[in-house]
Amino acid sequence: MKKSALNTMTIVGARPQFVKASVLSRAIDRSNKLNTTQIIETIIHTGQHYDSNMSNVFFDELSIPKPFTNLNIGSGSHGSITGKMLEGIERELQQKRPDWVLVFGDTNSTLAAALAAAKLHIPIIHIEAGLRSFNRKMPEEVNRVITDHLSTLLFCPSEASRANLAREGITNGVHVVGDVMYDATLYHRSQITPVHREDAFALCTIHRAETTDEKKTLTSVFSALANCPIEVIVPLHPRTKKMLESYKIKLSRNVEIVPPLPYLKLLEHLQGCDFVITDSGGLQKEAYFFGKRCITVRHETEWNELVEIDANKIVGTDKNKIENAFLWAINPVDTTSIYGNGNAGQIIIQHILKTHQTTL
Ligand code: UD1
Repeated sequence: MKKSALNTMTIVGARPQFVKASVLSRAIDRSNKLNTTQIIETIIHTGQHYDSNMSNVFFDELSIPKPFTNLNIGSGSHGSITGKMLEGIERELQQKRPDWVLVFGDTNSTLAAALAAAKLHIPIIHIEAGLRSFNRKMPEEVNRVITDHLSTLLFCPSEASRANLAREGITNGVHVVGDVMYDATLYHRSQITPVHREDAFALCTIHRAETTDEKKTLTSVFSALANCPIEVIVPLHPRTKKMLESYKIKLSRNVEIVPPLPYLKLLEHLQGCDFVITDSGGLQKEAYFFGKRCITVRHETEWNELVEIDANKIVGTDKNKIENAFLWAINPVDTTSIYGNGNAGQIIIQHILKTHQTTL
């Protein structure tokens, strides 16, 4: 039988997207072995994250297929980097003319890819659709709202995200499939050995502009960490490193700074830690996948279902509020399957194939 082809272009740029893309690449590989329609994937890296420990290490460790083009955009203001990405992605799309463009999450790379594709009338697949923090001051919220409204196929991690889309009038092409980050955790779980330390420890990541860019806020968070009853390991994002240095914030002896962790090392720390303190979206869920409670140093979350089951506490950045959550956090939580069964990637590929057949 003659094999038909479906060309996708996947656009990534920031750390969590590399992990999500690896799940999809694996699902594509599996589908190509089972189906006559062959999915040909081209991966474009915008270069939003460029330090080796923020980028290359993920591609190597997760065996994400090459070749891919790196647009090497790097840092800059939101307008500047989004504009450069838009131009670079448009060029790639015009050259390769894929049938679909695939984007993940809510970064500036996601937004640029969605805009470029929409203007060229190339249908967009948004994975991790429908998340809302309801805070339009977050660049990620702006990115995800616009991307959802431009997308043809929208894959939601949970029912709550489908409801968010419905409230905005988006009901066509929406599928609840589970969370691809959960797929990644389950897939790699057997390859890791939990970090073992003599003393208990909390794992902490801080990187959002809202937390890092004001001296008062960053000082408040690190003062709270100093009073944590157990050690705190902080894999430090380059932005946070820069701001800690520029504000001359002193670190307490119970706070251990380490470089950004490769994905498998991050999972090992999650499995070995007692609880998590973070302003990251992804880590809130990953804490839950490992049955750890999470103190979220933000004023809202996209993952309200975790707050409802008491796995996550939203405490903001006030020192006392963070400290008051330490004792709550020490007890583990039960992990149930609110985010699917670890096969979201495969379900997404089945939907893409089905939709592609009906539009031929
Ligand atoms: C971005 C995403 C955020 C995601 C995060 C994952 C946006 C708006 N934000 O935030 O949603 O949770 O990635 O990590 O897209 N830098 C380096 N080396 C790097 C990357 C960044 O030094 O490899 C520094 C630069 O000074 C840069 C700053 O960190 O200006 C922030 O990087 P950026 O990609 O703008 O945002 P993130 O905070 O990483």
